[in-house]
Amino acid sequence: MRFYLAPMEGITGYIYRNAVHDFFGDGITKYYTPFIAPRPKKGMASKERRGLLPENNPGIPLVPQILTNKAEDFLTLSEEICDTYGYEEINLNAGCPSKTVVGHGKGSGILKDTEAYDRFLEEIFAKAKCKISVKTRLGMEDPEEFARLLGIYNQYPITELTIHPRLQTDQYKGTVRMDDFCVALDKCKMPVVYNGDIYTVQDYREKMQYIKDHCKNTVCAVMLGRGMLRNPALARELYQSDLSENENAGAPTKEELRAYHDRIFTSYKDLFDGEMPLLFHMKELWASMGGLFPDQEKALKKIRKSGNVAEYLAGVHEIL
Ligand SMILES: Cc1cc2nc3c(=O)[nH]c(=O)nc-3n(C[C@H](O)[C@H](O)[C@H](O)COP(=O)(O)O)c2cc1C
Repeated sequence: MRFYLAPMEGITGYIYRNAVHDFFGDGITKYYTPFIAPRPKKGMASKERRGLLPENNPGIPLVPQILTNKAEDFLTLSEEICDTYGYEEINLNAGCPSKTVVGHGKGSGILKDTEAYDRFLEEIFAKAKCKISVKTRLGMEDPEEFARLLGIYNQYPITELTIHPRLQTDQYKGTVRMDDFCVALDKCKMPVVYNGDIYTVQDYREKMQYIKDHCKNTVCAVMLGRGMLRNPALARELYQSDLSENENAGAPTKEELRAYHDRIFTSYKDLFDGEMPLLFHMKELWASMGGLFPDQEKALKKIRKSGNVAEYLAGVHEIL
């Protein structure tokens, strides 16, 4: 199986991405940038440009993602990204469930008005010079909506369709809708990527077994999001689990996690002015990675409550 690192706004920037790639990159074939929303008057933010620079992504197969519902803005930004930085594929975000984004008809909000979405896709596929992949949900409020969306998706040369089998109204709650995913998978003409709720080898095996038992088609890849934040070696573990029965093959060592942590810590320290943004980002990382250490609640609390770098590092030293 091929594994992709999901785009996660505010987290999977180039610093995080490089650390994953350098320490746990085995088994990851593609990385996605967090979404970039076009700003026709201002242009891309310098943080977004830094994230795209080839020298900030050495050896990393990267796909930039765009969030918009305006064909013209998609075309202008995708051309700039591909011409300036040499990318060949752009991913369209049709999945973000956040209310502000959806309220503007973007992210999964683009799925609401299917006629407008069809016109949007028609124009970008007619005029874009790069390959286009799409990351989608099943619909806004009812999985039945996907039948209409499929009729639209199947008309265009989408290089890959990543499906997160939830609705906009689901946000990230409840379990993924595997039955609806299978209905969709079997009708898609393009390669399909599965995305959702894989945190462990067992989760991966269960989802893949479900697809095997219930679908005629197979997926071309699996995209991993929050599971990689919790366990940065997850893709390596899943990749090795395809080759061996041993569920622990590829699990991260403490030394690896320490080196991974230190890389991210040092890079953020160099990037930010002052301790507070550094602490904020590191605590965010631990909010997920802490899940790997269920019996270290005291030290995790120390990290959460730390008010300066010295307190923070004391907590980290207890765990790693
Ligand atoms: C904090 C956070 C930020 C996210 N940002 C993006 C984003 O920029 N673009 C996008 O398409 N999806 C984004 N997502 C959704 C993830 O890419 C992914 O689809 C979702 O987390 C489900 O996969 P998972 O269960 O493996 O985490 C985000 C998710 C989270 C939790």
